[in-house]
Amino acid sequence: MMLNTSEPSPKRMKFSQNGDDHYAKIKEERFKLPIRPVKHKLIQEVQRHPTVIIIGETGSGKTTQIPQYLYEAGVHRNSIIAITQPRKVAAITVSQRVALEKRSDIGDLVGYCVRFDDSTTEKTKIKYMTDGMLLRESILDPLMKRYSIVILDEAHERTIQTDVLFGVVKSAQRQRQRNGMRPLKVIVMSATMDVDHFSQYFNKAPVLYLEGRQFPIRVMFSKEEQSDYLFSSLVTLFQIHREAPAQEDILIFLTGQEEIESAVKSIKDISSTLMGNVPNMIVCPLYAALPPQQQLKVFQKTPKGCRKVIVSTNVAETSVTISGVRFVIDSGKVKAKIYNSRGGLDLMKVVNLSQAQAQQRCGRAGREAPGSCYRLYTEQQYDTFKKTTVPEIQRCNLASVVLQLVAMGIHDVINFDFMDKPSPEAIHTAVEQLKLLGALENNDEAKLTPAGKNMAAFPLDPRLSKVVLAAKDFECLEEILTIVSLLSVDSILFTPQNKREHALAVREKFMSSEGDHITLLNIYKAYKGVQGNKAWCQENFINQRNMRTAIDVRRQLREICVKQSLPFNTCGLDTASVRKCLVSGFFMNSAELQREGEYISLSTRKPVTIHPSSALFHCKPSYVIYNELVQTSKCYMRDLCVVDAAWLYDSAPSYFKKKKPTG
Ligand code: CDP
Ligand code: MG
Repeated sequence: MMLNTSEPSPKRMKFSQNGDDHYAKIKEERFKLPIRPVKHKLIQEVQRHPTVIIIGETGSGKTTQIPQYLYEAGVHRNSIIAITQPRKVAAITVSQRVALEKRSDIGDLVGYCVRFDDSTTEKTKIKYMTDGMLLRESILDPLMKRYSIVILDEAHERTIQTDVLFGVVKSAQRQRQRNGMRPLKVIVMSATMDVDHFSQYFNKAPVLYLEGRQFPIRVMFSKEEQSDYLFSSLVTLFQIHREAPAQEDILIFLTGQEEIESAVKSIKDISSTLMGNVPNMIVCPLYAALPPQQQLKVFQKTPKGCRKVIVSTNVAETSVTISGVRFVIDSGKVKAKIYNSRGGLDLMKVVNLSQAQAQQRCGRAGREAPGSCYRLYTEQQYDTFKKTTVPEIQRCNLASVVLQLVAMGIHDVINFDFMDKPSPEAIHTAVEQLKLLGALENNDEAKLTPAGKNMAAFPLDPRLSKVVLAAKDFECLEEILTIVSLLSVDSILFTPQNKREHALAVREKFMSSEGDHITLLNIYKAYKGVQGNKAWCQENFINQRNMRTAIDVRRQLREICVKQSLPFNTCGLDTASVRKCLVSGFFMNSAELQREGEYISLSTRKPVTIHPSSALFHCKPSYVIYNELVQTSKCYMRDLCVVDAAWLYDSAPSYFKKKKPTG
């Protein structure tokens, strides 16, 4: 039988594939982005100049579109385009978005590479990565030979890694030109920045401004100074919530994970008791350590009749785009690393924003329509904020960076081509610390020792790499690898606010009087004992996802140890060896119990306190070492381990000769 194909067959109906509509919509969205009109100009500028600077508000399409334009135009000459991000979250979510736009799987054309998680393959040409990863790669390949284009994104954040990369890409560019190699194109992108400063530094590079889509924003300052910004933010939130129409979303800027989780809980509790005609509230936390599945919730469209409330760290300031936000509540605070140059240690502390950051936060309210920003500080307080944020490189411990620079063959760190130089004192302290850790030769030449060379091969803080190497002497590498891996991932402890007491009681059995490191080791052993049983994790309030990540990290660290022929010994129940080994890297982070029952840090002689989350909270050992200091109402030590005074002294006699433990 002949069928007339032009005639619709009665049995066949027309369908359009849902997915096609979806892609058509994405295509349309891409076309409307503010970056689109300058596409050709952009490609031209990049072809003409070695370096181009691009400035455009968040949401313009810089991060997602520019790599695709350059790829489509063939500017990458069949080699890889690298795009750096200061944050792991951004690198992963943006690469997923771009893969979607390109209708490809992650790891094919588009991929991401962050510490301990590399999704890229030989096929990958558009590679989103953390600035730390690119810096690490350049130790082995200072000319960045595998890349034709390096895009340094979010340059205004001035993270320590991005700042060092500025110098590294400049030098790679120059050397490749000198050696007649394929040119390295550099693109520096940012939401706001001191353009002249950047352009000068990059040999008067041209600057491309994107026309922003910014609606007017009503800025309101608090009339009085607020003593408790957390409380004020809740009051403000519910004030807005009662009055504003549904679907006008609210973004609150707070400082850290714990604070955000507790705020989210309060908001949920309060909103469930609200009477009258108010929209349903969807409350989403947003911070770097949040599981990816939950992060995605933030980006989902708010259903009709609802209101989304996002409670975020400064990750929502510039690096991710959230649609629907019409109100911003700004605490005026941010958690930042502060450097104590006398003790040579970093401290996490909540500090005031810079005015530039406050403006960025405001801007988040006016992306799609006119919006409002409520500042929980007075105008007078705002005037006391710094104009711009001090680059991290001028306020952090530089040991890690100096080790990386020296490993790259840059011995004259003081004269490295920094955009803004760290103080000579800070560099000096870092060099001294690296000498104490045995990474640098004990002379004026800034040369790596063989151990230093091995340390630089680990993607870890030099103190942790030192501990891994030292495990050979203490015959406990298996245990140390476990501990270091667990310290390198987000917490494996899962402590829901409403079941806190219960969770702590259940985990009591893992607690060690030797401290948190040994406690972690106990949990890991128990987990292995039940072969990673899911029910066991739930019962014991262990975050299985983070545990699995830690196991993967452990595998990767183990591979590096194999390359360095380190012996995989285990010390069994002799946990004192493990603690001695930890001292070899962390003797600088030590504290001593005083007669009055308080602790002082041995490096700064300042008072420090055991964090309530520590296994040692109710103990008073004479000496402890700790992983980090966090300043809130007090200066807290986190992740503690009980040690002997003699171990401290033996691990670095020259260091303690100056600051002899008094006990
Ligand atoms: O880098 P920039 O802030 O200029 O913008 P972008 O990150 O490239 O984002 C451009 C647009 O892509 C946003 O306005 C979103 O509509 C969309 N986007 C998204 O839907 N999902 C993401 N993970 C990232 C971007
Ligand atoms: Mg961006």
